[in-house]
Amino acid sequence: MPIALITGASRGLGRAAARALAQRGWSLIVDARRADDLADAMRGLADVAAVPGDVTDPGHRAGLAAAVAGAGGLDLLVNNASRLGPSPQPLLRDYPLDELARVYDTNVLAPLALIQLLAAPLTAAAGTIVNVSSDAAVEAYPGWGGYGSAKAALDQLTAVLAAEEPSLRCYALDPGDMRTDLHQQAFPGEDISDRPEPETVVPALLRLIDERPPSGRYRASDLAMPAVAS
Ligand SMILES: NC(=O)c1ccc[n+]([C@@H]2O[C@H](COP(=O)([O-])OP(=O)(O)OC[C@H]3O[C@@H](n4cnc5c(N)ncnc54)[C@H](OP(=O)(O)O)[C@@H]3O)[C@@H](O)[C@H]2O)c1
Repeated sequence: MPIALITGASRGLGRAAARALAQRGWSLIVDARRADDLADAMRGLADVAAVPGDVTDPGHRAGLAAAVAGAGGLDLLVNNASRLGPSPQPLLRDYPLDELARVYDTNVLAPLALIQLLAAPLTAAAGTIVNVSSDAAVEAYPGWGGYGSAKAALDQLTAVLAAEEPSLRCYALDPGDMRTDLHQQAFPGEDISDRPEPETVVPALLRLIDERPPSGRYRASDLAMPAVAS
């Protein structure tokens, strides 16, 4: 049975991905800061180890690594947990640097720290890393300089990692807009009911896992299209 670690699995895309993989028979290790929400989200799923905690906490990350060791390996790491930063998002000229450090800590340093901790089992499995990115990593939207530059750094980490680790598949996945808490936080007071549900992105994630295209940056909207015949 393949084994996956998904961060930020109590709601949104992480929850949708965890449910889909569990239904396919994967064994899961999941986290989120709020233990009750995580337990509620995983209720009814078989073979899930819920390890509540904050990905920026080295002690929690060590707990995740211990859970991976207990499971006997790791085929897939999904770095999904994310921090938007202040809401509404400030212009860069006003961006509080202590907040920026927290955004980078969650969106850049914690994913890399998990990759470092889990490199050995991932390599042993010739496994897959999916770092969840954003269009804000490549588009210059006013107000998105903190979160967007953190996701751009995550994209570049992913690209260099792919060059350094040819035995792994390393993906940055841009999911596109989704109707989630993080998105509502980015658009405070706005009606976001026209945005697609996070479940709509799961087929793109599954396609990366199943088809294992070359490492790189992928948009979920492109992966939703049929494969181009060669
Ligand atoms: N929604 C969008 O439109 C959109 C667009 C582009 C990219 N993305 C990306 O898609 C991914 C999923 O976002 P989402 O919209 O599904 O978010 P979401 O619904 O707000 O869910 C975020 C999840 O991450 C957990 N989390 C947050 N900070 C954490 C931390 N420090 N440690 C551990 N868990 C943490 C949350 O639980 P707790 O709060 O209990 O910790 C929750 O389970 C993120 O990487 C995001 O940047 C989203």
